[in-house]
Amino acid sequence: MEESDRSLVLVSNRLPFQLQEEGNEVLLKQSDGGLVTALKSYFDTASNRSAFQQIKWFGAADFPEKRWKKFKRQASPTGEFTVEPVFIEPKTYSKYYNGFCNATLWPLFHYFPSYVVYEQEYFEKYEEVNEQFAEEVLKTLRPGDTLWIHDYQLFLLPQLIRDKMPDVSIGFFLHIPFPSYEVFRLMHRPWKEKIIRGLLGADLIGFHTHEYVQHFLKSVRMVLGYDHAYRTISLPDRLVKADMFPLGIDYKKFNTASQQPEVLAQMEDITKNFPDKKIIFSVDRLDYTKGVTHRLLGFEQLLKDHPEWIEKVVFIMVVVPSRQIISKYNERRILIEENVGRINGKYSTLSWQPVIYRYNQLGFEELCALYHVADVALITPLRDGMNLVAKEYVACCSEQQGVLILSELAGAANELGEALLVNPLDTVEMAQAIQQALMMPPEEQRRKMQLMQQRLTDYDVHSWVNDFIYQLSEIKQQQKQEERKFVTPSIRREIIQSFHEAHTRNLLLDYDGTLVAYARHPREAVPDKDLLKLLATLGADPKTNLTIISGRDSQVLENWFKNVPVNLVAEHGAVIKRVDHTWSQETEMDQAWKNAIRPTLEMFTKRCPGSFVEEKIHTLAWHYRNVETELGFTRSRELLDTLFHLVRNGQLQVIDGNKVIEVRLAGVDKGIAARKLVEESNPDFVLAIGDDKTDEDMFRILADRAVTIKVGPGHSVAQYSIASQRDVIRLLHELVS
Ligand code: UDP
Ligand code: G6P
Repeated sequence: MEESDRSLVLVSNRLPFQLQEEGNEVLLKQSDGGLVTALKSYFDTASNRSAFQQIKWFGAADFPEKRWKKFKRQASPTGEFTVEPVFIEPKTYSKYYNGFCNATLWPLFHYFPSYVVYEQEYFEKYEEVNEQFAEEVLKTLRPGDTLWIHDYQLFLLPQLIRDKMPDVSIGFFLHIPFPSYEVFRLMHRPWKEKIIRGLLGADLIGFHTHEYVQHFLKSVRMVLGYDHAYRTISLPDRLVKADMFPLGIDYKKFNTASQQPEVLAQMEDITKNFPDKKIIFSVDRLDYTKGVTHRLLGFEQLLKDHPEWIEKVVFIMVVVPSRQIISKYNERRILIEENVGRINGKYSTLSWQPVIYRYNQLGFEELCALYHVADVALITPLRDGMNLVAKEYVACCSEQQGVLILSELAGAANELGEALLVNPLDTVEMAQAIQQALMMPPEEQRRKMQLMQQRLTDYDVHSWVNDFIYQLSEIKQQQKQEERKFVTPSIRREIIQSFHEAHTRNLLLDYDGTLVAYARHPREAVPDKDLLKLLATLGADPKTNLTIISGRDSQVLENWFKNVPVNLVAEHGAVIKRVDHTWSQETEMDQAWKNAIRPTLEMFTKRCPGSFVEEKIHTLAWHYRNVETELGFTRSRELLDTLFHLVRNGQLQVIDGNKVIEVRLAGVDKGIAARKLVEESNPDFVLAIGDDKTDEDMFRILADRAVTIKVGPGHSVAQYSIASQRDVIRLLHELVS
């Protein structure tokens, strides 16, 4: 498909507009919230749309189908993109939206676990709505299209689409925080498994901050056991990337807004109403995460600590109605209004009222006018994925006068470090910050604003979308490169044919993870009768020189394979036993080094319950397969660091294996051993298979004379990869059949 033939398909729960009926007319009204503001302003710009032939935006309709048909007849909805409303049965929608989305996921992901409602039926409706979205999207999605799914309402959608269209490009962006695993784990097990699986259906998963990416990767590891390298998760059949893309704003639009006559007129009106007064401003959706009541207390504290501001400052606080049916939202409104009433009752004078409270939506012009005239923006959410209001305020300060007070718990705090950062729960700290802001010299305001504005210009909403779409195409490329390496049926046939045509062959097979699955303890991974029979058949063929090449010690291998005609390579090549011969030591080795390393490994064993040290003749190994996943990972990184300092002289090498760290003398590896065996028999055909990092030495050294196959996910220099250990056994059976 040509680049320009592709469509971009956006999916979010909220469509960019709502339909309102006025008399005979049906009108458009822009929806609220960061997600819609950001995306809409990007796709409103013509040049941004040119990379795609068509842009479609799917979202849940919050208007009846009848009204939509009428509107569609009246006019084309937007001109910039086609809108595809998904009509969901109202009761189902309510249990999905007011239920699982906003009474379960929203409070949990914003660190309000005590607000979370755990209701199985809500989850079932969440699944049902995600399925309905999938059904609608699949009606028009084509294989070369790019699908970009947004936010927590649609966690299951990526995998639902992937099941039906395995190759399509899917991006997912989360607009709210991804919480720490300690919070995420509170969800019922089947829900969290389905959520993580659902998300992993995407190729690229974006978050606002580095912290959220880390939290997500940890949850993936804890819930499904998938590790990552540099934020790339290797699934059995695909790579998935998780990365940070801090959502930007349409900087220019906000920065130049004060040049518009309507904005200027509104600015004049506001300043006329509050002559000689400092203006503090805030605007949020009605949400307990936004910290509005604490903010009011912070402002009250200022009036208490600094009565000199009485009659000299006003706090204009706008709250935009949101999710009113949910009780926690309604309760919050009552609480806010009680506090506003209390503060105004306590401090108002006949000619002055400290808090100007409004409970309604603002138009763009009025919003920008308020941003522009505000001396201080007080943005103090208790948690916020990003918070675009903070960025919009900075952009609107076109004369670089104004001070931003920002909660350190908003994602935006990562980029707006020059703001006065506060703990939103600490009302005394907040009052001090307001005082500092009101007293800040103009030059300091300018300096801080300049730095923040530069950063917001550099990564605005245009860069954000472009960056995301570019990274999505990059990961697709990377997947394709990996894909070519899979042992497809035709490659399998070629391997079998070369094997049969060869007069002499060498088979070099790793043991753990290749011939048998990993067990909790190495001693439990014993070869069963079927495997021994298979190896005996393979080894009995006089044309085949069969080798098991392992990190195991010689005694274990000899015990297991004493009746099988096979060469044994133990401890990664330190000792070799050729068929019908005894063990031979390949190099002279001094064992004294072990005394220097053993105490460190033992110390780590004590600090890491479930780990243990295995001592082989030429190797010391620290195993952590049975350790709690996250602790094992962290301790293993610490151990690696400690060992690298200990083995600096180059005499020893440290191998970071599959849940094991091994130390042995340098100059011994599977590559050297494999080459030796291959050179001894000089065969027509060589096949080497392995799953671990130590097998990479063998793959590398045999690169130009063997067929090399890596088992399982992860990067490898091997020519091919195969999904699992069971597939290796299947392939070996095919070689002998
Ligand atoms: N906003 C709006 N109408 C209003 C007030 C605010 O459309 O009356 C916009 C505001 O410009 C911002 C968005 O709503 O772009 C709020 O995004 P934010 O990330 O701050 O919070 P969210 O609502 O997404 O939690
Ligand atoms: C936040 C969420 C969005 C949501 C918006 C408004 O920004 O991340 O997904 O659309 O709030 O909330 P609402 O429930 O009205 O769509």
